Amino acid sequence: MTAEIAIQTVNLSKTFGRRGRKRIEAVKHLNLEVRAGQVYGFLGPNGAGKSTTIRMLLDLIHPTAGDVYLYGQHVHRHHEVLRRVGALVEGATFYNFLSGRRNLEVLARTANCYDPRRIEQLLEQVGLAERANQRVKGYSTGMKQRLGLAAALLSDPDLLILDEPTNGLDPGGMHEIRTFIRRLVDEQGKTVFLSSHLLGEVEQVCDRVAIINLGEIVREGAVDELLAGKSTLRVEARPLQRAAEVLREHWPVVTNETWLTVSAAHEDSPHVVRRLVEAGVDVYQVAAQRQTLEEYFLAVVREKVGHA
Ligand SMILES: Nc1ncnc2c1ncn2[C@@H]1O[C@H](COP(=O)(O)OP(=O)(O)OP(=O)(O)O)[C@@H](O)[C@H]1O
Ligand SMILES: [Mg+2]
Repeated sequence: MTAEIAIQTVNLSKTFGRRGRKRIEAVKHLNLEVRAGQVYGFLGPNGAGKSTTIRMLLDLIHPTAGDVYLYGQHVHRHHEVLRRVGALVEGATFYNFLSGRRNLEVLARTANCYDPRRIEQLLEQVGLAERANQRVKGYSTGMKQRLGLAAALLSDPDLLILDEPTNGLDPGGMHEIRTFIRRLVDEQGKTVFLSSHLLGEVEQVCDRVAIINLGEIVREGAVDELLAGKSTLRVEARPLQRAAEVLREHWPVVTNETWLTVSAAHEDSPHVVRRLVEAGVDVYQVAAQRQTLEEYFLAVVREKVGHA
């Protein structure tokens, strides 16, 4: 059986400042299809159009052209489908003078889904239980982000749409939220659509990703497939700067204080070593490693800019 399609966008476009001098095509003819039961990453650098797309998915802003369907329902014409959706958007606001717990209570009552046990459970799950009685005023960015995640889950939605859910969290916090998101999908069968510019983060939690740049999708696919066969060579050599110069003539090279990461295939290893030896560089180690999503992403985005 093929999974239900949780999100579909058809030619979705948004242009800002139509009549002004500065016309920004923030999202261009976006066609997305997100199947239910997975974590789907929506990745792109700052200004790529992620938040604009998410706002259109939630019918918070109107597309200039194109359509959004959630579970097969047109989101604008069948607004009630949003009852199946929980969201965390950029700059979500709370009542600063109320505690975290009170904020959730108010939100739950407004949404007609008040259940004190569920609120306690969520506070526990997002790691806020101990600070739940404090005013939101004194919360850190990371704590507000956790509260936002709990708020998105109040109505026990089938689909979660999260704009940069790990924003403002430290590495430990990110790990916790990542595990939490993964469990929502694996254990409760939910669907999560999340945006991020933190690639290392996303690689560990997403089943599938779309990479967006300048309002357009540049790559889409299962994380494992995108990275299959993409290897890099890690080279340790002295002097390192000289090694970088020599190799850069043939392959893209990223330097670190102790080694170089060369975007070359495993088969290229002998050529890499030969070039270095011929240039009088001492080679200590050459090892092939799988490319990370971050390296892949940078290569894709660079390629795109190069062709623009
Ligand atoms: N209300 C608006 N009016 C005018 N331009 C806007 C508006 N909202 C977004 N933009 C522009 O649209 C483009 C995409 O912005 P968007 O916020 O969607 O990017 P993003 O991918 O979420 O970036 P970030 O990673 O920084 O959050 C940017 O060039 C931005 O300046
Ligand atoms: Mg954004």
